[in-house]
Amino acid sequence: MRHEAIEKNIGLMIILIIVALSFGTLVELVPLLFAKETHEPIAGLKPLPALELEGRDIYIREGCNTCHSQMIRPLRAETERYGHYSVAGEFVYDHPFLWGSKRTGPDLARVGKRYSDDWHRAHLNNPRDVVPESNMPAFPWLFEDEINAEMTGKKMTALRRVGVPYTDADIEGAAAAVAGKKEIDALVAYLQQLGTLLQTRR
Ligand code: HEC
Repeated sequence: MRHEAIEKNIGLMIILIIVALSFGTLVELVPLLFAKETHEPIAGLKPLPALELEGRDIYIREGCNTCHSQMIRPLRAETERYGHYSVAGEFVYDHPFLWGSKRTGPDLARVGKRYSDDWHRAHLNNPRDVVPESNMPAFPWLFEDEINAEMTGKKMTALRRVGVPYTDADIEGAAAAVAGKKEIDALVAYLQQLGTLLQTRR
């Protein structure tokens, strides 16, 4: 009888469904909110320097994250291919997170130092030159366009507001650090530091 009352009352049904789902969510979520290792940066983690920060924005602008995840799961098949699984403390300064789950190309969470700068430049200019079977798009315009140095300090200031510990010196030096650099320089610098703090592969 009581069950029938629920099934015939859509309002009550909605409320009870929300209660049931929230319970599952809370059981998973609340312990994480209090676990130290999900909040604290791992040893050696620093906010991205000016050039790498600009590189990250280009990565987002070009949609690299729609084909590449940055999150290695703690499964053997993944750690053997990509290296140490990703840990929360690596991402505390990331806004927004670029973890993703769709992998058209390989995960890039630990691609830093896996290839030379020249390899990345050749690959981004035309992936087929270095990986003949690749279906990754080419990004030749990155070699022409310069970074807008005026914006870098402002981006850092905004990130500082949400908790990324940039210093005044970082912000003041930002424009000089990226002045005259091409977008490709920034993107490669960003790729070369990805995941290098916890690299156990090769
Ligand atoms: C349409 C999907 C797609 C997009 C968008 C894309 N990639 Fe890729 N990427 C791939 C595929 C597929 C591969 C594997 C073949 C190859 O190495 O070229 C790859 C490979 C790579 C590799 C080599 C990884 C490894 O471990 O060997 C890097 C680095 C890379 N991409 C960076 C980028 C960057 C940076 C961007 C944005 C500027 C980008 N990709 C955009 C599909 C994509």
